[in-house]
Amino acid sequence: MLLSIRNLSVSYRTIYGKLNVLDNVDLDIDRGEIVGIVGESGSGKSTLGQAITRLLPPSAVVNGSIQIDGKDLLSLSEGEVTKYRGTSVFMVLQNPFTSLNPVKTVGYQLLEAARIKMERSGEKWNEDKGYEMSINALKDLRFPDPDVIMRKYPHQLSGGQIQRVVLAMSLILKPKVLIADEPTSALDVTIQAQVVNLFKELNKKLDISILFITHDISLAYVISSRLVVLYAGRIMEDGDVESVIREPSHPYTQKLIAGVPDMSKFVSPDVKLESIPGQPPSFMQLPSGCKFNPRCPFVMDVCKQREPELIKMDKRRVRCWLYE
Ligand SMILES: Nc1ncnc2c1ncn2[C@@H]1O[C@H](COP(=O)(O)OP(=O)(O)OP(=O)(O)O)[C@@H](O)[C@H]1O
Ligand SMILES: [Mg+2]
Repeated sequence: MLLSIRNLSVSYRTIYGKLNVLDNVDLDIDRGEIVGIVGESGSGKSTLGQAITRLLPPSAVVNGSIQIDGKDLLSLSEGEVTKYRGTSVFMVLQNPFTSLNPVKTVGYQLLEAARIKMERSGEKWNEDKGYEMSINALKDLRFPDPDVIMRKYPHQLSGGQIQRVVLAMSLILKPKVLIADEPTSALDVTIQAQVVNLFKELNKKLDISILFITHDISLAYVISSRLVVLYAGRIMEDGDVESVIREPSHPYTQKLIAGVPDMSKFVSPDVKLESIPGQPPSFMQLPSGCKFNPRCPFVMDVCKQREPELIKMDKRRVRCWLYE
């Protein structure tokens, strides 16, 4: 297993008290998988991505284990973490403008990535080779004029171009896991589709695993091979993307899909497009039992009393009393 997350819990210390945001997350990701992490705002998606890249703020308390290729990330020192970021795990952020250094040219930043890659693979730094790697990466990301782009500063590029530069950087670094946190939400729709295809190509070409974080289940459907549905910091459902979209087991997943115009028809031909009534719970006051029970159309007594486990059924995992 490439990435193995066990009993991962994350809480934030705040002036209101401790918010337990992620609760006992168990997740295994294989080489080459594209896993869509979906859920409403506040469900803990970014917290999960930041825990894996060790980018959580100091107020976060982390428990459990995260292993990549058998190496335990949570026990790495700050110094070791710097070595692991980039080549083991690479994160693409929502706001493309925060991903690059605003005062350095694209070329400077790609060469820096090439230098890091060569040094970590035990090669001696060679600037000509680094330049060639950078140009090739830009060509792969469909920049027709890579030499020109190398001389530009981030503010001279559009959001879509910057996300492509960031992906070119990951092409140079060849991480084992790429975590993309809403990487296309700041882009307009046509550019969004292009960037999504580039993610897919990167995955095919380098066999890297991608965790694609989004609140947009239809976007996750287009890109992912597997879907993980988060609610209130818990995995509610996990399975192959086609089967989860066509036959969602968890009432929350059913509601998420029913809220998307082009997808509701998958669930049932006569389903009405509807948004999920109510609000996601506050981490300051989580309901007892199943965290979705106050909004669930199938709620039973047991749901209010005890929280269901994430159980395995065939190739799916589901956290719901309907299936226990
Ligand atoms: N640094 C922090 N300090 C305190 N609480 C935080 C912090 N970061 C996140 N949270 C809280 O943790 C919960 C999960 O946040 P997170 O950003 O992981 O959710 P998300 O699923 O990524 O949401 P979104 O779709 O809006 O990006 C939220 O209730 C959020 O307010
Ligand atoms: Mg987020």
